[in-house]
Amino acid sequence: MAIENSGVAGKPGELAGRRAVVTGGSRGIGAAVTRGLVEAGATVVTSARSEPPHSPPGAAFVTADLSTAAGVSRFADTALDLMGGVDIIVNNAGGCRSFQSVLELENDWQYTMDINFLAAVRLNAALVPAMRRSGGAIVHVSSIATVAAYPNLLHYAAAKSALETYSRGLAAELAPDGIRVVSVCLGNVETPASRRARDQIVGPDGGNPDDLIEQWAAEIPLGRLGDPEDIAEAVRFLVSPRASWITGSNVVIDGGKTASLY
Ligand SMILES: NC(=O)c1ccc[n+]([C@@H]2O[C@H](COP(=O)([O-])OP(=O)(O)OC[C@H]3O[C@@H](n4cnc5c(N)ncnc54)[C@H](OP(=O)(O)O)[C@@H]3O)[C@@H](O)[C@H]2O)c1
Repeated sequence: MAIENSGVAGKPGELAGRRAVVTGGSRGIGAAVTRGLVEAGATVVTSARSEPPHSPPGAAFVTADLSTAAGVSRFADTALDLMGGVDIIVNNAGGCRSFQSVLELENDWQYTMDINFLAAVRLNAALVPAMRRSGGAIVHVSSIATVAAYPNLLHYAAAKSALETYSRGLAAELAPDGIRVVSVCLGNVETPASRRARDQIVGPDGGNPDDLIEQWAAEIPLGRLGDPEDIAEAVRFLVSPRASWITGSNVVIDGGKTASLY
């Protein structure tokens, strides 16, 4: 684990003085969330397995593999060392690295549970004792794969379902400490991960990947995929004092996709 950019300090804003940990901040949604929290004045420490070409401006970046207990533990210790405490945790790192039948048990079930569910459980366990002193907010990034059956994604959907259930229960447990806990349940957001998924589905000879994007967009009532900034705005609100009566919620952010399923 290497600290690429330490000693950051927040700037004036609604989150001034707040110390945030964001996992998976090197690209996509986590990078947008990191930017959003820095802009709001928070001090942010973020992480990924690989250092991005451009470190998230204003945030400290730590390399860590959060699919292992040891990686999470080292990341949590480093974040606490850098900031002296924590007020906000955004458990964002995750994703689905392969599509597989539910009957294939050998490949990705364990990894998918580790990165999409247990990484958050482990990180919260490491950091919540420090939050208990001053309250705070925890966000879990989930997916509408928990709501609808998507082919060959059940390992991912099951891990995210566990995350949502855990998030609700943790909210009840931590409310007396003034710690709010929410999950955000995301539809299709245009990120490096969704572009990888599109390319995998289309395949090398399968036609124009942009046609698939158009098809996905047509299934969304608001007519477009999400932008990482759409999610960053929501997370910034949810961790702010403006959301002080919101806890235990699962906030669906999907351009209306799941509403249109019923
Ligand atoms: N994009 C969507 O349409 C969508 C929809 C629903 C939910 N989500 C959820 O939103 C979150 C972010 O997705 P995204 O689309 O922004 O994905 P992304 O573009 O692939 O970014 C994922 C981030 O997590 C980090 N990460 C992945 N595996 C890690 C590991 N084992 N240890 C540490 N860091 C790790 C990645 O960096 P490294 O690879 O360098 O480690 C990267 O910074 C995920 O939880 C995903 O399930 C996304």
